[in-house]
Amino acid sequence: MQNKLSFYILTDTHYLSEAMWEEGESINNREKGDQIAIKCTPYVLRSFLNKIIQDKETPYVIITGDLINNGDRQSHEDFKKELKLLTDAGKTVFVTCATHDYAGLGDDENIFHPVYYKKDGCIPAERVYKTELPSLYYDFGHKYADSIDEESGSYSVSFPGGFRLIAIYDNGNGRSHCGLFDNGFAWLENELKKANENSETVFLAVHHPVIPPWQVYCDVAEFEMFGGYKRLREIMCEYGVRVIFTGHTHVHGIKEYKNGNGRSFYDITTSALPAAKGRMRKVVFDKTEGSCTVESISIDRIDGYDTGGLSAEEYIYRLNFGGLIENSLPLAKTDYEAFIENISHVFNPSVLKKHPFAAKRLISVFNRLRMSTVAAFAGKYADITKGDKLRLKNVYVKTVACCVLAHVFSGDAPYYPDTAEYKVISGAINKAVRLAKRFGYDIDALVPGSRTALETANDFLYNTRTGNDSYIKFFLED
Ligand SMILES: [Fe+2]
Ligand SMILES: [Fe+2]
Repeated sequence: MQNKLSFYILTDTHYLSEAMWEEGESINNREKGDQIAIKCTPYVLRSFLNKIIQDKETPYVIITGDLINNGDRQSHEDFKKELKLLTDAGKTVFVTCATHDYAGLGDDENIFHPVYYKKDGCIPAERVYKTELPSLYYDFGHKYADSIDEESGSYSVSFPGGFRLIAIYDNGNGRSHCGLFDNGFAWLENELKKANENSETVFLAVHHPVIPPWQVYCDVAEFEMFGGYKRLREIMCEYGVRVIFTGHTHVHGIKEYKNGNGRSFYDITTSALPAAKGRMRKVVFDKTEGSCTVESISIDRIDGYDTGGLSAEEYIYRLNFGGLIENSLPLAKTDYEAFIENISHVFNPSVLKKHPFAAKRLISVFNRLRMSTVAAFAGKYADITKGDKLRLKNVYVKTVACCVLAHVFSGDAPYYPDTAEYKVISGAINKAVRLAKRFGYDIDALVPGSRTALETANDFLYNTRTGNDSYIKFFLED
């Protein structure tokens, strides 16, 4: 066992203490259309922790930030009680914190402000500030560290068998820079140098991504990346660090980075725990085999929470923005007011309110549109089999669109280039680009970054990462 290290990795638990809300409009509106199901976060967390506690073979747990949702003290205190269940069961827990874990100071860019959700509105709650976090979580981090970067709170821990975790606290202003500054990078490089001299196998854990789940994420919102991600990539390659575990994007994904010298590493990002397909990962490093294996583990039920008989995934999906849109589309015909109300939790419905007749007609057409019609527009009928032609007559475009939407965060979207759906969608995109050009519009140029509309769409239609977002086994030597 000395040659092995195994641990669970969780992220973006977004815990909200039950003591922080009362049943009513304000909490329910907060929950609708988000990426997570905020009210049941304590129960989702407990359900996963129960699984971890049952596994007597795995001694460590790592959680990479956005531990709680809104920077309030009560949620941190209750969250720590949950972590104590793990330590009482003999596990050692390591956390890092992120922007949801502390309140903005007013002079930084952190937008999170702790509130108590009363029936009909919110009132301010006691704040936790960024500088407090490392000591607040001393028992779940610094207590075990043999080196700490005082500026950021990042820390380094060694494990029996020659393994080392470097847990990075994102420093910065809470929005446009969440990463390390020069001193932090110097500390990190020094830790990596020492680890290499001692032949340790090093892995990193941090909240913000070092490789984006899709290129457009980086092109549209580079500030959501780890501050200094390009520098960190090269440092990882230089020192032979093969893996970094991240969160923040709420995407379940595994992506590889290769630098110009052929050195590479993986950014393994894990979905938010209280998302519809929320999962944790179990990681096993094996020095004898020279490998690292990462698998994903979900829960079927939310222990102790009334979901009306639904599975965890079914219950949360109805609240998440994808499920809210999918379930609201039929309402556009039968109850337009309710449709607008639901949609308003996802985006601004002012256009839909201003032009109700046109909007209803358009949504009605969209609700009835089938993939065979899109295939006819794309001129793709010749490329697909007879069986698929028949099948697509019964496949609604909205079903395909909602499927793509549902996989944005859960990963492993199903429409690979050999599927009829992909041929139809890609054909339609290419035709739309060609048609727009005739009218003087360059759709490809409007897409952020340097990639075409189709290249950007591909990232959402199928797995353009490593091909499997749930599982990987890779070698520790590059
Ligand atoms: Fe998050
Ligand atoms: Fe985050």
